[in-house]
Amino acid sequence: MSTRPSKPAPGAPAPGKLPLTELVQLKLRQQPIAMVTAYDAPSGRLADAAGADIILVGDSAAMTVLGHDSTVPATMDEMIVLTRAVNRGARRPLVVADMPFGSFQVSDEEAMHNAIRFMKEAGADAVKLEGAGRMLSRVQALVGGGIPVMGHLGLTPQSATMLGGFKAQGRTAAKAVQLYDDALALEAAGCFAIVLEAVPAPVAARITEALTVPTIGIGAGLACDGQVLVWHDLLGLYEGHAPRFVKQYADLATAIKEAVGTYVEEVRERRFPEEQHTYSMAAEELELFEEALHDRGEVRERR
Ligand code: KIV
Repeated sequence: MSTRPSKPAPGAPAPGKLPLTELVQLKLRQQPIAMVTAYDAPSGRLADAAGADIILVGDSAAMTVLGHDSTVPATMDEMIVLTRAVNRGARRPLVVADMPFGSFQVSDEEAMHNAIRFMKEAGADAVKLEGAGRMLSRVQALVGGGIPVMGHLGLTPQSATMLGGFKAQGRTAAKAVQLYDDALALEAAGCFAIVLEAVPAPVAARITEALTVPTIGIGAGLACDGQVLVWHDLLGLYEGHAPRFVKQYADLATAIKEAVGTYVEEVRERRFPEEQHTYSMAAEELELFEEALHDRGEVRERR
């Protein structure tokens, strides 16, 4: 009889899942890490099939799928539903849940409570939170509680108002030094990786060199250990303003509008559905059906 458990032990990674510890190995081997956001089961499945290493269920969902103007309104309940859905679609990639604004700022206890919800209710492998400074104790508390944490520095969208808008960060020597120190502090607090958003490439390169954990860049240049893009930006699904750092790899908005437009036209012109999209029935059964209707007095002119 096999002594191997049929299910992974509680807390153990699911079979086929990229081990979290592999990320440092990828950095050491200078093998870039590919991360992308996703917000539902089909996008989770497709990102997995395309070979992504990490899927971030970003609070960018507030803008990309929930229709808000910023990431701030995203709630824990919304993020849990989206993370659970992504997790149903993705097998190999690590699924990182983004802690929404208000879910970790108040206290270590509240951060812990909400991060545990992501792990238990949504099956997240890790959480991400924005900032350093007062947030360092949050990172320590979560990591101490066994929850892997990804940091996020530079342009942190939840505090965009404080940063003077959606602008690149660390563009003066003093601000770059602050970013560098924050990154070191996040690593010391226990982050397993750090997102650098909208940071000058030379600053991101120096931070990447200084850290033992990987940096994941978005608008931070090629020297980062990995890159992340937002699903809707990458695929050309988001029709709002795109930041400079976005590269659009497809134009799905146009493809969707054309496809749905053709469908609408065919429906209006009675060209859809065609023969192959409809179900038939045996001629005798159809006759019996018509007779039954006739017997009930429901005789109408057929179109
Ligand atoms: O919410 C998000 O999508 C993010 C990425 C831009 C890193 O935080």
